[in-house]
Amino acid sequence: MGTPRGKALVTGASSGIGRETARRLAQEGFQVIASARRKERLDELTKENQNIIPRPIDLSDSRQLEEFCQEISILSEPVSVLINNAGFAIRGAIEDVSLVSIRRLFEVNLFALIKITQACLPGMRRLRQGTIVNLSSVVGKFPYPTSGPYAATKHAVEAISDALRMEVHPFGIRVVTVRPGVIATEFNDTANQLTGDLLSRTDPDYKPVYQAYGTAMGKLFSNLVIPGPKIIADLILEAVLSDSPKAAYCAGPMVEEILGPRMKLDDDSFFQFMSEKTGLKDLKV
Ligand SMILES: NC(=O)c1ccc[n+]([C@@H]2O[C@H](COP(=O)([O-])OP(=O)(O)OC[C@H]3O[C@@H](n4cnc5c(N)ncnc54)[C@H](OP(=O)(O)O)[C@@H]3O)[C@@H](O)[C@H]2O)c1
Repeated sequence: MGTPRGKALVTGASSGIGRETARRLAQEGFQVIASARRKERLDELTKENQNIIPRPIDLSDSRQLEEFCQEISILSEPVSVLINNAGFAIRGAIEDVSLVSIRRLFEVNLFALIKITQACLPGMRRLRQGTIVNLSSVVGKFPYPTSGPYAATKHAVEAISDALRMEVHPFGIRVVTVRPGVIATEFNDTANQLTGDLLSRTDPDYKPVYQAYGTAMGKLFSNLVIPGPKIIADLILEAVLSDSPKAAYCAGPMVEEILGPRMKLDDDSFFQFMSEKTGLKDLKV
């Protein structure tokens, strides 16, 4: 027998935006498959709400991902709501980030998202309905210094989402992109931990670049109130429950400050705008 609202899958449900979204979907009556690596965190969610089914997985492990997708594709009640949320960042100038780290970033932020989407689509086509929400970021529309590899994964998520939206619209499947600004979750700590001390390992040429950028960002953030994940979970629920969701939803700091100008300015003007914002405009090394 089907669940009251249907079956949802949330990746990255052990923390932040994914955890809040899994809770909210379960409260709305969806049966939620909650996935992430930290099983104990997923079990806590199940204790809160029996509508949440924990499914531990490391999305960077191709064998685990294959098994998971196989399971999804043979569910008797297909997933009708897919929240592709799992993701992380590493920081650093392009010269300072190894290709191995960049590949791992793409495995989780992009390739797993594509693979899981492919596993869910046949079921959604059978149902002739479904909602796929892909977590992009404001940096899915513009990179800032040190965000190149992470922003590249999110630019790719934007492209995949835009193409998919058109492809599956004829089957009644809706594809939504969500672009958070800066949100208070474990995301920042994880990025700091994975990045390590950039200044100690970079070439001396880059030190003034990192320092000028760090100072400019410090100023930019000093007046910002950083919201928690609820603001994004609210948007995701709004999209899922809407009869006609928007193609994209944005919220949080940096949406007005930088995404707004990105949408209005031509490329050269935006480069000038960002050079000023990031403190690098007059820097000569
Ligand atoms: N917070 C922000 O400022 C912000 C801004 C823009 C966009 N976003 C995007 O929003 C999404 C959610 O981020 P968040 O802020 O909620 O961060 P978070 O609190 O760090 O949560 C990230 C989630 O992804 C999961 N994850 C990471 N690597 C994984 C892997 N290899 N296998 C399986 N699961 C993995 C984590 O679970 P485990 O560690 O348990 O595996 C965790 O549940 C991400 O796509 C992020 O890029 C965040």
